[in-house]
Amino acid sequence: MAHLSYMLTVFILVVLLSRIQLGNSQLFFHDQEVVEAIGKELSVPGWDVNTTDYCSWNGIVCTSNNSMVVERLDLSGFRLQGNVTLISELKGLKWLDLSNNNFQGSIPLAFGNLSELQYLDLSFNKFGNCIPSELGMLRGLKALNLSKNSLTGAIPDELIGLENLQDFQVFSNKLNGSIPLWIGNLTSLNVFTGYENQFTGNVPVNLGLYSELTLLNLHSNQLEGGIPESICANGYLEFLVLTQNKLTGTIPESIGRCKRLSSIRIGNNKLSGGVPKSIGNISSLTYFEADSNSLSGEIVPEFAKCSNLTLLNLASNEFNGTIPAEFGKLNNLQELIVSGNNLYGEIPTSVLRCKNLNKLDLSNNMFNGTIPVDICNTSRLQYLLLGENVIRGEIPLEIGNCVKLLELEMGSNELTGSIPPEIGHMKNLQISLNLSHNRLRGKLPQDLGKLDKLVSLDVSDNQLSGNIPLALKGMQSLIEVDFSSNEFTGPIPAFAPFQKSPNSSFLGNKDLCGDPLSGGCGDLNGYDHNIYGHKVSYRIVLTVIGSGLAVFVSVTVVVLLFMMREKQEKAAKEAAAGNNTIDEISSRPVILAGNIFVDNLKQAIDFDAVVKAIMKDSNKTCVGTFSTVYKADMPSGMILSVKKLKSMDRTIIHHQSKMIRELEKLSKLVHDNLSRPIGFGIYEDVVLLLHEYHANGTLTQYLHNSSQNPEYKPDWPTRLAIATGVAEGLAFLHHVAIIHLDISSGNVLLDSNFKPLVSEVEISRLLDPSRGTASISAVAGSFGYIPPEYAYTMQVTAPGNVYSYGVVLLEILTTRLPVDEAFGEGIDLVKWVHGAPARGETPEQILDAKLSTISFSWRKEMLAALKVALLCTDMTPAKRPKMKKVVEMLKEITES
Ligand SMILES: *[C@@H]1O[C@H](CO)[C@@H](O)[C@H](O)[C@H]1NC(C)=O
Ligand SMILES: *[C@@H]1O[C@H](CO)[C@@H](O)[C@H](O)[C@H]1NC(C)=O
Ligand SMILES: *[C@@H]1O[C@H](CO)[C@@H](O)[C@H](O)[C@H]1NC(C)=O
Ligand SMILES: *[C@@H]1O[C@H](CO)[C@@H](O)[C@H](O)[C@H]1NC(C)=O
Ligand SMILES: *[C@@H]1O[C@H](CO)[C@@H](O)[C@H](O)[C@H]1NC(C)=O
Ligand SMILES: *[C@@H]1O[C@H](CO)[C@@H](O)[C@H](O)[C@H]1NC(C)=O
Ligand SMILES: *[C@@H]1O[C@H](CO)[C@@H](O)[C@H](O)[C@H]1NC(C)=O
Ligand SMILES: *[C@@H]1O[C@H](CO)[C@@H](O)[C@H](O)[C@H]1NC(C)=O
Ligand SMILES: *[C@@H]1O[C@H](CO)[C@@H](O)[C@H](O)[C@H]1NC(C)=O
Repeated sequence: MAHLSYMLTVFILVVLLSRIQLGNSQLFFHDQEVVEAIGKELSVPGWDVNTTDYCSWNGIVCTSNNSMVVERLDLSGFRLQGNVTLISELKGLKWLDLSNNNFQGSIPLAFGNLSELQYLDLSFNKFGNCIPSELGMLRGLKALNLSKNSLTGAIPDELIGLENLQDFQVFSNKLNGSIPLWIGNLTSLNVFTGYENQFTGNVPVNLGLYSELTLLNLHSNQLEGGIPESICANGYLEFLVLTQNKLTGTIPESIGRCKRLSSIRIGNNKLSGGVPKSIGNISSLTYFEADSNSLSGEIVPEFAKCSNLTLLNLASNEFNGTIPAEFGKLNNLQELIVSGNNLYGEIPTSVLRCKNLNKLDLSNNMFNGTIPVDICNTSRLQYLLLGENVIRGEIPLEIGNCVKLLELEMGSNELTGSIPPEIGHMKNLQISLNLSHNRLRGKLPQDLGKLDKLVSLDVSDNQLSGNIPLALKGMQSLIEVDFSSNEFTGPIPAFAPFQKSPNSSFLGNKDLCGDPLSGGCGDLNGYDHNIYGHKVSYRIVLTVIGSGLAVFVSVTVVVLLFMMREKQEKAAKEAAAGNNTIDEISSRPVILAGNIFVDNLKQAIDFDAVVKAIMKDSNKTCVGTFSTVYKADMPSGMILSVKKLKSMDRTIIHHQSKMIRELEKLSKLVHDNLSRPIGFGIYEDVVLLLHEYHANGTLTQYLHNSSQNPEYKPDWPTRLAIATGVAEGLAFLHHVAIIHLDISSGNVLLDSNFKPLVSEVEISRLLDPSRGTASISAVAGSFGYIPPEYAYTMQVTAPGNVYSYGVVLLEILTTRLPVDEAFGEGIDLVKWVHGAPARGETPEQILDAKLSTISFSWRKEMLAALKVALLCTDMTPAKRPKMKKVVEMLKEITES
């Protein structure tokens, strides 16, 4: 009996064991085969088919109970292409991330069979066609991200089955139809983004009614109807972005119930009525942007209760009345933009006392006061825009206190008196000084010549008299001038920016003479038809070919020469040879505009050779977020670095003249640690920016390639000098109010002495995110460097730059990449470093031991620099130091 029961037990055990074995091995073989097939189909790097432990392969996580079922597959950012249908055979998948690859074609219907799936991210690929309704079978799905593809059609109603969905992101596709009502019924919905599509119809009236919606972003669609009352029903909303639609109706009174709302962006719609007083209940409000609507009534003083308010943009509406004096309480206010309304009254002195105010734009209203004497007593004002009002009285001497101003616009007002010499104290004035269309009299002060950074000066249409002072030659950065329609007399000083200007800049002054006006000063023989005649004809030709661009004469000449040579060559080759050469030529892009900013390089640079160079893949030196860079050998022996902007930036091509101006300005932005453009070429569908070539490559290459080289010598002092140089370059940019959009070690070039040069600065000017919603989402910077707040604010800020810089500094200290599998799931360099104390690791375990173990003093300096990097990468933007402070801290390290 005992024997029998023993036998039985053994038997049962054996059966059980073998079944488990069998079950396991079935799954085992199954997922292994599938994974191997996927690896083959997609050529996944690092998947070594010769080792059977596929659970340890890159991006694969299996169940923890030894059954080797693939539970997570993360192939994000591998640049893969191929057919992903096979993945649907991994029946145990809970997490699938295929984002940031080059997958094309339809999303496989078979993904609907992945019944365990909770997370599906297919964003940033080239998937096309409709969203398969089969995805609606994924009942357990919590996050669905299909953004940045080419998906068409409507959101299928079958997705109503996704009842556990928390995050739903479909931005930047070609989706149309209306946004289905059932989305508002998803009780777990937290984040919903569908911006940059072609959605029509209403914003669902129940959105936010049944769920704790925190982020709603639907900008750049064709949505109509009103902003639904429901969005604040539960009061969880933090970010509301509906910019660039066709929304009508009023801003609902219920908005005041959104107690956590920090950002409201509803500009570029057709909203009407007033801003409800309940806006004052939203104490967390930091960003209110409602420009280009038909909002009316007075600006409610209740905004002053939103003590965190940083930006208030009400431009291009129908507001009337005055600016409430209460706004003086807004200690955090940085930008107040109310241009293009019907506001009147005095320039609000209380607002000028807001200690963080950076930009005050009152232009194009009916402000009818005078310029207050305390205009710049306390403020950090950089932009003061008062043009097109009816401001009276004289310009006070105290204008000289505005030493931080970058731009001063006072044109088209009723200003009287003379221009005070104190205007020369505004040493930072760079962008523009516009005093045109007023009633100013007297002479131009000599002290204007001290404005050596100023690019554009316009004093036209006043009653100014006397000579144009020779001292204006001190304005070394001038590009645009306008002295026309005054009472100036005497010779125009011989000064390149004057002579390069069109004669219209000097017309309407009866006694002004000399170049560029036709006719010498009292010497009719100097009358030179030729120069003038050429200028005109170049202009006419350019207007025809360059769609009416106002480009400088020098540009025109380059273009014409280029086109003429191109034509001659083509003709010669056509005559000489067969079809091949003709094909080759016709595929070569036609230049629309081009220029070299540095005079002594004009001879050395050949646009033809530039174009030839970018057609060869072997010349490619790196691929950045916004551009691809090529090395180009000039026939003159000079070597250029040519940056080809990616085609997504068509906006740039649409704004050529603006872009050319920006480039001209940037080419004058001289700092030791900035790489500035030396020229450009604009073609039909591509923009090329020319820079000097730096043989030592990028900081990424220096850190991550050379340190693996056996001959590598650890060199902390060089690294610290690089870190300090980059910080200085960025501090300078911030000083001139430029935010860099893509700080990364890949965008730091090293010259032959390893002096760092921050590059891609021009991208920041050309893709200014504050000027149009369309480009906002495109501007994200490089992976691993993007500040955490960007995900919600979609705004790159100075503190955001500091964060990205902090990542670069950590890279320098650790010799690790910002994103690395080795850190573990969802952990990047920043999290890894900040998490060291929690893991019980000392700073020494973080720093690159190849450097920190060389000497006690190196180690000490590295620890000090690590402290700076930790401050820079603080999660809270406000806690990060300013770039200038970072420079000081790093210099202290070097000096001590
Ligand atoms: C795998 O094994 C095959 C033959 O055994 C060999 O030719 C191949 O190089 C190996 N591949 C790798 C990645 O080791
Ligand atoms: C292993 O875990 C998965 C899910 O976690 C489960 O479905 C499977 O049955 C488990 N296998 C074994 C052998 O316990
Ligand atoms: C991928 O392969 C499946 C069969 O495995 C096929 O039905 C499907 O059309 C393919 N998809 C693409 C985009 O080629
Ligand atoms: C999904 O699974 C079912 C049942 O196994 C099968 O009949 C169907 O063909 C699968 N669908 C796709 C699109 O592969
Ligand atoms: C896709 O969306 C999910 C959920 O909101 C998010 O966690 C993920 O980071 C997004 N993917 C990318 C590449 O941004
Ligand atoms: C959404 O929920 C409401 C209330 O529960 C219900 O009346 C309505 O039919 C639902 N709408 C859809 C499209 O499911
Ligand atoms: C204002 O901003 C600060 C810093 O971000 C934050 O701590 C505080 O809670 C905010 N105030 C309100 C009323 O939301
Ligand atoms: C301001 O606008 C409101 C609404 O458009 C109008 O009723 C009111 O009369 C206007 N006030 C002034 C002073 O123009
Ligand atoms: C400014 O304009 C307003 C509205 O037209 C008018 O009431 C006021 O008297 C004017 N102020 C001055 C100083 O002219």
